[in-house]
Amino acid sequence: MKVKKLKFISLLLVLAMVLAACNSDSSSGDGNSDKDAKLDIFSWWTGAGEEDGLNALIELFKEKHPDVEVENAAVAGGAGTNAKAVLASRMQGDDPPATFQVHGGAELNEGWVAAGKMEPLNDLYEEEGWEDKFPKDLIDMVSKDGNIYSVPVNIHRGNVIWYNTKVFEENGIEVPTTFDEWFAAADKLKEAGVTPLALGDKEPWTATQVFETTLLGTLGTEDYNKLFTGELSFTDAKVKEAAETFKKMLSYINEDHSSRNWQDASQLVAEGEAAMNVMGDWAKGYFVNDLNLKVKEDFGWTETPETEGEFMVITDTFGLPKGVSNPDDVKKFLSVLGSVEGQDVFNPLKGSIPARTDADVSKYDAYGKETIEEFKQASLVPSLAHGSAAPEGFLTKVNQAVNIFVTQKDVDQFIDSLDQASSELK
Ligand code: GAL
Repeated sequence: MKVKKLKFISLLLVLAMVLAACNSDSSSGDGNSDKDAKLDIFSWWTGAGEEDGLNALIELFKEKHPDVEVENAAVAGGAGTNAKAVLASRMQGDDPPATFQVHGGAELNEGWVAAGKMEPLNDLYEEEGWEDKFPKDLIDMVSKDGNIYSVPVNIHRGNVIWYNTKVFEENGIEVPTTFDEWFAAADKLKEAGVTPLALGDKEPWTATQVFETTLLGTLGTEDYNKLFTGELSFTDAKVKEAAETFKKMLSYINEDHSSRNWQDASQLVAEGEAAMNVMGDWAKGYFVNDLNLKVKEDFGWTETPETEGEFMVITDTFGLPKGVSNPDDVKKFLSVLGSVEGQDVFNPLKGSIPARTDADVSKYDAYGKETIEEFKQASLVPSLAHGSAAPEGFLTKVNQAVNIFVTQKDVDQFIDSLDQASSELK
């Protein structure tokens, strides 16, 4: 009896081993070591104003690859406020998502690539013939030491003011282009009982974004860039001037700014309680898809003061982390994301412009068309608030400094904190 039982168990074991071998055989052909692994796509695109583009892209992928099981692993919170921490703990615990949202520039290159956590994608770029389909500047933002590490799905513009057209009309406001014009408009609006500038800095990055656009307007492209290479100090008189301007702007915001997020602040503009907000063009996706506003009719846009011809670039990209068990499925997803079709289902909903230069312009609204053209002409600068200009350690400290500055408004202390934080840049 005992012998029989043992034989039976051994037989079962052998069977299990054969089955396991068959499984790995059937998947070894396509490079996925675990054919049951889900394609979990990690981002912070969830909820209003964020998720529509991603959902459309996932639908397109499912149509093309119905055999691959996809899991949308998004973690809520603008600009990755919560997602970046979750991602870091997954990466440290050797449990990387199949692919994840990461900004081109320092966040990718000085972060995950430098830590040896990403696979190069040069072969995929070659297979797909992508090297001349994305602007060279953008490929540079996702490359380190001659290797390409991710695929850009979009280009967002960060230096944009969104305004309520009726509020502007009713109060006789001309669209401001300089800081002086902006303050004159803000005074007029304040007198009329309208909040000039909506801010929702419950997540501090939104205030950092107002500050970085003020820095760009005050310093210009060249000096703005020098701040992050260490060629220009944060104690420079121009930075102080930008901080003073930022401080002045903060005297025109809604009182409840610290309890609102970016969507809530954009709502103030949509409803006409506030006249303007400074936000990346994901706000356009939110205005149009979620609040049903009409481009140009209900809201208009312009560059943040004194940044005409400058384009603050925010690019969302996806790569292939080392150690995932389904790299071929990830590459299939990246191929769809990097295709003309993929970019054109995603970007019109997201508010961004396509990263590819050969996308179908007719699919974009008036804002998109204008921005596609401007991107070609403009001088490009990386956003600090959205991870491209400087490593995460520096950004975290800047967000803290900005957050304190919004309430304390102490320019010297602010400059001091920025200067101290800049040790992270070395
Ligand atoms: C940015 C991201 C955008 C948008 C925004 C608000 O960092 O690049 O795609 O999602 O945050 O969450």
